[in-house]
Amino acid sequence: MMNPKAENVGTSDTNYRDLRDWLDRVDRLGELTTIRGANRDLEIPGIWEIVSRQGGGIAPALLFDEIPGFPAGFRILFGELESVRRLALTLGLKLNQGDILSCVKACRTRLKEMTLIPPQKVEYGKILENVDSGSNVDLNKFPAPKHHEKDGGRYFGTGHCVITQDPDEGWVNLGTYRCMLFGKQSLGLHMSAGRDGRTIMNKYFSRGEPYKVAVAIGADPALSLASTMTVPWGISEYDFAGGLKGNAIEILEGPYTKLPIPASAEIVVEGECRPGDTQLEGPFGEWAGYYANCGLSPVQEPIIHVKTVLYRSKPILTCAQPAKPPSDLFAQSVFRSALIWDELEKAGVPNVRAVWCDLAGGSRLFNVVSIKQAYPGHSRQAGMIASQCGSGVYIGRYTVVVDDDIDVTDLKEVIWAMSTRCDPEKSIDVIRRCRSSSADPAISPDVKTSSHNPDDTFTAKAIVDACWPYEWKDRAFPVAQVSPELHRLILERWGRELKLNGHGAR
Ligand SMILES: Cc1cc2nc3c(=O)[nH]c(=O)nc-3n(C[C@H](O)[C@H](O)[C@H](O)COP(=O)(O)O)c2cc1C
Repeated sequence: MMNPKAENVGTSDTNYRDLRDWLDRVDRLGELTTIRGANRDLEIPGIWEIVSRQGGGIAPALLFDEIPGFPAGFRILFGELESVRRLALTLGLKLNQGDILSCVKACRTRLKEMTLIPPQKVEYGKILENVDSGSNVDLNKFPAPKHHEKDGGRYFGTGHCVITQDPDEGWVNLGTYRCMLFGKQSLGLHMSAGRDGRTIMNKYFSRGEPYKVAVAIGADPALSLASTMTVPWGISEYDFAGGLKGNAIEILEGPYTKLPIPASAEIVVEGECRPGDTQLEGPFGEWAGYYANCGLSPVQEPIIHVKTVLYRSKPILTCAQPAKPPSDLFAQSVFRSALIWDELEKAGVPNVRAVWCDLAGGSRLFNVVSIKQAYPGHSRQAGMIASQCGSGVYIGRYTVVVDDDIDVTDLKEVIWAMSTRCDPEKSIDVIRRCRSSSADPAISPDVKTSSHNPDDTFTAKAIVDACWPYEWKDRAFPVAQVSPELHRLILERWGRELKLNGHGAR
């Protein structure tokens, strides 16, 4: 297992040329494992899922090569951003401490200080090494995997960017929306209601026009990350990714769609969806750990009719494995925590010491805020706002507020606070009819299938105030634990003999 607390993490150099150069750097950090000979269906995603779960959602990146049935060099990559070091490498974060909270704080600073950097147009990119069009298009050339046993088929896009352009305003959106492999020349496209890509698609369809789409796989990891983030409407993830890493993303014009495509991506598929043209998609295992969209029934989704495929020689198919948490959501947890923290401060909540959207809750369902209580009602205020602010509102079922002696990234500490400082009768509030989603596993299949739109659903949310009650917080019972001073003395005297490393000893 990797040590998530490594020190002197990060570099300010984000001049990696492309995914391959980035992977060389990851290798030098000791965070890349290459595995040869594993099968693409179930075995490769299964290996990644087991390795990732073993590390609690933090694991080395796994690169699979010599995949049976494919030429050597046609590779699959899992776990791009599932560590503090790889996130720091991608964004050029300089961290003295490699712990999760230092990473959240560094990302907050980056979000505050960054300015948008538009992409830079280039004449040539490695993505042009191979261009298939018309009858030469064959998506089966690439080792798209079947991810989970109950999935309805193979998936071409899980760790990718779907690129489209707003027809009225002209800006370019990127979003990560799964693409099922429908056939040699077609993909499915699953975009939840409210996603920018779906809103844009609806604009084209309402005019009876086709919706042009480019699917980029193995793009700059900063761009792949931006594609999974809720960047405000009207701001292109290209500009956002450039700002995040401090370097412009290089683009060129896609030959079929004329959309800007990443010049050094591994694979770009261009095509179009047409109004009323759908096919059954799924089922596919999802981020909350279930087949919660419509159970095991596939649903009708738009078809991308593929016109062109561009790819680098020996391409790398980047993948993600949504599954029972903790799964591939480390970078999302870090950024969501940073964003909720910012929103709390902007709403005027003082003394916020930390925020963590735990991986056990799929980075959205179980969020923890720590504060230094300043006045009566402070902890409730923090909990209510964290649960309803823009970055926390999507399901966000539980928000737990703890005192600042609790490490929000350690669930054992959070549960200890909940079970010792909080009387459920007085300390838990339930807010009804809040934002949910079709991906919400707590909404029954009956409601999902009977409602006009499965996204027209609500969830209740719990605010758990696990702080000491304000009235007697200054007389709170003393904690029975070895003090830091005694801990240090014992380590000095006995650490070597008893192999105490200081981690988990207190
Ligand atoms: C690995 C991963 C896979 C995702 N798959 C989907 C998906 O299939 N459909 C979807 O609507 N959102 C999916 N999301 C969430 C969106 O990518 C995310 O909400 C993003 O902000 C959407 O971009 P938009 O705000 O431009 O619409 C996924 C997120 C991650 C991290």
